[in-house]
Amino acid sequence: MRLEVSQAFSRGTKYFLVFYTIISLILTARHFYSYHASEGTDDDAAIFPRADENKAEIPLLNSSSSSSLSHSKNSSSQLQVDHQALAQSSDSSSHPDVAWPLDNGYSQRMDEDYVLSKIFSEAMGPSNLTPYYRRASALVEKNDITMATLVTRNRFKVLSRLATHYKGPISAAIHVNDDDSKQEVLDELHAVYQSNPDMQSYVDIHLMLDNFDRQFNLWRNVAKFFARTDYIMMLDVDFHLCTNFRQRIRNDPKIMALLDSGSAALVVPAFEYVAGEDGLDWRTFPTSKSNLLEEVESGKLDMFHKSWLRGHGSTNYTKWYASDDLYKVVDYNFSYEPYIIYKKEGSPWCSERFIGYGANKAACLYEIYISGIDYWVLPDDFLIHQTHEYPEATRRKERQYNRKLYSNFREELCLRYARLFVSTGDWDSSKADNLRDQCHRIRGFRSAMNLA
Ligand SMILES: *[C@@H]1O[C@H](CO)[C@@H](O)[C@H](O)[C@H]1NC(C)=O
Ligand SMILES: *[C@@H]1O[C@H](CO)[C@@H](O)[C@H](O)[C@H]1NC(C)=O
Ligand SMILES: *[C@@H]1O[C@H](CO)[C@@H](O)[C@H](O)[C@H]1NC(C)=O
Ligand SMILES: *[C@@H]1O[C@H](CO)[C@@H](O)[C@H](O)[C@H]1NC(C)=O
Repeated sequence: MRLEVSQAFSRGTKYFLVFYTIISLILTARHFYSYHASEGTDDDAAIFPRADENKAEIPLLNSSSSSSLSHSKNSSSQLQVDHQALAQSSDSSSHPDVAWPLDNGYSQRMDEDYVLSKIFSEAMGPSNLTPYYRRASALVEKNDITMATLVTRNRFKVLSRLATHYKGPISAAIHVNDDDSKQEVLDELHAVYQSNPDMQSYVDIHLMLDNFDRQFNLWRNVAKFFARTDYIMMLDVDFHLCTNFRQRIRNDPKIMALLDSGSAALVVPAFEYVAGEDGLDWRTFPTSKSNLLEEVESGKLDMFHKSWLRGHGSTNYTKWYASDDLYKVVDYNFSYEPYIIYKKEGSPWCSERFIGYGANKAACLYEIYISGIDYWVLPDDFLIHQTHEYPEATRRKERQYNRKLYSNFREELCLRYARLFVSTGDWDSSKADNLRDQCHRIRGFRSAMNLA
């Protein structure tokens, strides 16, 4: 009797265990099924839309271009702008999404305007920016030098001339006021772009439509940001490139190594004609150093902005006239604003707080210098300014404003970079030489850093 009870009990336990196991399996399977099935629901998609597998490798712009918002070789963390999604999307917004891949084929998508508002967050906004408004069709080599420049309405023809003359990559930030004249200006731009095949081959246009005038440093950053090569030249479009420094630099492994190190920027010395009318036609400009020297000796040509010596004086023109070799700028002045070729990645951006005339370019060059990048002057190459009118009254007022801003900015930068160098262990290295030399003159810096 007791035996039967215990046998019945153990049989019951067995049945129960079997039953329990089956139920568990069913429930687990159901749970897995419903969990995975829910991944694609609309609710989730609104937060983490599922990336379409075949979109994972969509080229950013065009498969023929090597450009990408990110040049990262790590495709799993690559930032992508999804033009296909744009084409399929039913809303008529002109901007694509930017997507960061997450696990399991998900991606975090953001409106491109939102991303750009953060990228250029120091500037006045909102600005309506269209990157690659027109895309150059020629293939771009990564180790080439892009002319990064900013262009307004009265310089469209000058840009077109630059394209034909340079026949290399150009990244142009073009600002157009968002007012009644807008369509007329865009028509002009389209006409110039259509009429010159070199514009179509070489010039990427990044269009900014807003009513903020003269945000030069924002425009410079836009031109740099979307440049597709490793090296850029920060160029004023008015300057004529008299010599072929692009070829000279690219064929010189020593100079390329210097550029690639990220600790050097190359200065191309700038000149202007003493009599404005001599500077109107670039076809009459010298194309070799010896020809240039003749015109300098005859008093026809001189350094650019001789009346504002600190702007280009650090290049040391006396030295340049006699020099056959690359040399380093030793007498740096915080108002120095040479035209430089430098590495895109790792170099500082231009502070977008400088709006209007005065100190804006100097501020870019100051930060580049303080960050540990030395200036090296190219001995055989030069630029000549093509004459045009300056709006003098505006310039004077804005300069006053920016002078104050710049003096605060230098002090702030000195503290910021000093702190960076202490953190990275570079404080005692040669990378901090430029900073130590320049910042030591600032009283607030000396006391904050406990320096004598
Ligand atoms: C992309 O490149 C192809 C050639 O590879 C060209 O035919 C096409 O027009 C380009 N598309 C755009 C939008 O530039
Ligand atoms: C690539 O990205 C993954 C995930 O974001 C990361 O774990 C990995 O370290 C990255 N590799 C490189 C070489 O950056
Ligand atoms: C410029 O170079 C010349 C010639 O090499 C030199 O004598 C002079 O001291 C330099 N000027 C400055 C300010 O460094
Ligand atoms: C910059 O140059 C100007 C004019 O040559 C000079 O007066 C000034 O002292 C220089 N400043 C520095 C910091 O070198």
